[in-house]
Amino acid sequence: MITNIKDLEQYEGKTVRLQGWVANKRTGKGLVFLVLRDGSGYCQCVVSEEQVSNETFETAKRATQESSLQLSGAVIKDERQVGGYEIQVQEINILQETVDYPISNKEHGVDFLIENRHLWLRSRKQWAIMRIRNSVKYAIYTFFHERGFIQIDSPIFTGNAAEGTTTLFETDYYGQPAYLAQTGQLYGEAAAMAHGKVYTFGPTFRAEKSKTRRHLSEFWMIEPEMAFYDLDMDMDLIEDFIRYIVTDTYKNCKQELEILERDTALFENIGKKFPRITYDEAVQILRGERDVNGKNSIETLRDDLNEIAQRIGDIKEEISTREATIQQAGVKAGVKNFNQAKVDNLKNELRDLEEKQRNIPQWIDSALNFTHGDDFGGSDETVITRLFNTPIMVYKWPAAIKAFYMKRDEQDSEYVKGVDCLAPEGFGEIVGGSQREEDIDLLLARIKEHQLPEEVFNWYIDLRRYGSVPHSGFGLGFERLIMWLTNVPHIRETIPFPRYYGRLFP
Ligand code: 4AD
Ligand code: MG
Repeated sequence: MITNIKDLEQYEGKTVRLQGWVANKRTGKGLVFLVLRDGSGYCQCVVSEEQVSNETFETAKRATQESSLQLSGAVIKDERQVGGYEIQVQEINILQETVDYPISNKEHGVDFLIENRHLWLRSRKQWAIMRIRNSVKYAIYTFFHERGFIQIDSPIFTGNAAEGTTTLFETDYYGQPAYLAQTGQLYGEAAAMAHGKVYTFGPTFRAEKSKTRRHLSEFWMIEPEMAFYDLDMDMDLIEDFIRYIVTDTYKNCKQELEILERDTALFENIGKKFPRITYDEAVQILRGERDVNGKNSIETLRDDLNEIAQRIGDIKEEISTREATIQQAGVKAGVKNFNQAKVDNLKNELRDLEEKQRNIPQWIDSALNFTHGDDFGGSDETVITRLFNTPIMVYKWPAAIKAFYMKRDEQDSEYVKGVDCLAPEGFGEIVGGSQREEDIDLLLARIKEHQLPEEVFNWYIDLRRYGSVPHSGFGLGFERLIMWLTNVPHIRETIPFPRYYGRLFP
């Protein structure tokens, strides 16, 4: 029988058989330490020359990184190990000896890693991210299921645009143009009139011809749609939903979050009410005309710059000290490797900080010169959310920069009842939603204004023709959410095989 590493605690003191891959190997005098990974977890397996046959010891020495193998050994409790257990190996059988595995435990450039995404998925951090993705997906289904929502699958081939015509992927659909769905929303609206409360959860597509750290060409979106909901009810649901997912992740993904060294402040603050501010207020905050809890956006950025300069100085000093140690005559291999690993990490941190040092002055410039009526750019969202420690809701947006289906504000017809939820710590938009225009004449006028072809929306307009009711919904970008929860710097690490401008393989 084969045991999973995640179940080792049930076998303390017993002998088990494990199968998996060598994640890491170290050798000492008469000892080989193999870190085995089997998909369910990681575990250190110790092979002692004194306790095993010569043949087994030789086999252990041959087991290179990513060799596949089976082994048997005794389960020993050891608090210092990840997972809390260690294996005292008795026998090893290599299935395949791996030669020259491309990804070593040294630091690699991210371009190289993404080229090798099919292998990179095996690395510990990537493993943790995908497990969190899986856990969150389950939490999403549970949240809606427990609240009586019906899950509806919307089509991927669609005949009309819904989120602007500039990001459409056009395909040939039996001689007629079809577009890959940018959103499932319009179909969700139809289904909400059949079931009351529904949600879609599927892949969506946007031709984003720019490389940013938050945009994918193919991403997954969760889109609830509720009959008889107004914008306030919509915002309440967004808040409950995000709080539920974050709390659930904190509870069920402790080990993964630890691997990712996720700062836990997010989880500690998630119980607080999410501030709701209008677009106009957000503009004032961005420009530094309005403080948040005594913090000013522009001053905060300038403080960041000073701190960064300080840290850069410290890092450079530490690098040169450690490099001097490495170069000393007669330095031990262990000391050398230890210092080299530190230097590699410091150099990475330095690179990130220097990038920030170049960017922040531009962010300040863009914030100070922001024009009311424009949409926020990525850096603007970073600047605004930097001041908060919970997600925030920005509502009441200028109609001109939002989609045709959003309901106008009755008091202020230049504005729509739309909301964006922005994640804190500089992450930015994770949710976009709104109350929908339920009046047939107003909706027709919006379609004209947006210069959209009315014919393709006939079916959608029917929803306003037969028993129209107030209704609302939102879309949560699944990868944006995972990016925030795991605190990875780039969205491409949050999906197994990312598709973004310029990337189709692997
Ligand atoms: O704000 P968006 O465009 O809204 C909609 O699509 C609405 N139909 C949703 C609705 O009301 N049912 O997109 C919603 C979310 C964004 O907040 C963002 O999190 C994510 O989808 N998103 C992207 N994620 C990754 N890559 C992209 N290119 C994205 N575009 C949007
Ligand atoms: Mg949006």
